Amino acid sequence: MDLKNKVIVITGGTKGLGKALALSFKKEDVNVVVCARNEEELKIFQKEGILGIKADVTKENDLNNLLKIVIKKFGQLDFWINNAGIWLPHLPIEEVDWKRAHDLIEVNLFGTVYGSRVALIQMRKQNFGSIINIISTSALEGRSGGSAYCASKYAVRGFTESLKKEVEGTNIKVISIYPGGMQTNFFDEKKPEGYNEYMNPDFVADIIIENLKSDNPEIDLVIKRPVKQS
Ligand SMILES: NC(=O)c1ccc[n+]([C@@H]2O[C@H](COP(=O)([O-])OP(=O)(O)OC[C@H]3O[C@@H](n4cnc5c(N)ncnc54)[C@H](OP(=O)(O)O)[C@@H]3O)[C@@H](O)[C@H]2O)c1
Repeated sequence: MDLKNKVIVITGGTKGLGKALALSFKKEDVNVVVCARNEEELKIFQKEGILGIKADVTKENDLNNLLKIVIKKFGQLDFWINNAGIWLPHLPIEEVDWKRAHDLIEVNLFGTVYGSRVALIQMRKQNFGSIINIISTSALEGRSGGSAYCASKYAVRGFTESLKKEVEGTNIKVISIYPGGMQTNFFDEKKPEGYNEYMNPDFVADIIIENLKSDNPEIDLVIKRPVKQS
């Protein structure tokens, strides 16, 4: 698919993978719109020609407003990437602060649910578009110490698989992305073991974009760091 002049929304687009995706899509002449909560960081994108709109993914109304702005400016929505997410430092289940875990599920699961709904309503009207959910390899296997985060990502995976079934027979695509560890601000509070071996988010962004450009994109894309040759 030729991406030129397409319209994309990326949630959580000011840092990490979202930022890498936004800058790479821009190079492909895509109309890029990003959202996040920190307004100052959003302003930095203006000079790149990227529209930054303040929106919290846990507030469906924020995302409805975001869509309205996008449709008013561009008239259509080709891609919506549910990327915003947060993490908790690893702890045994008995020690997890489950208030923080609730907040994490609110962002990782409900942020994706709300984003998908807002995009889906518009895409059904148009009868085209792709919803791309950034999940994680933490949705493919349990991790000691990572129970809350894994639970949120397994839930996103279940939601996304159901969404795929609901759009069967339409011109709307739903794509699940399962990246492994990436070196991003996600781990500012505490770096996990093995962080130095994690992938550069630019590498992951390029694979996601190449997949979208292909004639037959993978709808379940696992992206792990390349195995080092000894
Ligand atoms: N890093 C990894 O190793 C890794 C591995 C697999 C999957 N992932 C997934 O990849 C995605 C991106 O992670 P990342 O590593 O790039 O994280 P990051 O560097 O921490 O960036 C997260 C982005 O999300 C935004 N955000 C957080 N909460 C938000 C909210 N409630 N509403 C709107 N925006 C919000 C942040 O901006 P504000 O704080 O200003 O809102 C920021 O732009 C997440 O879904 C994550 O689960 C990450």
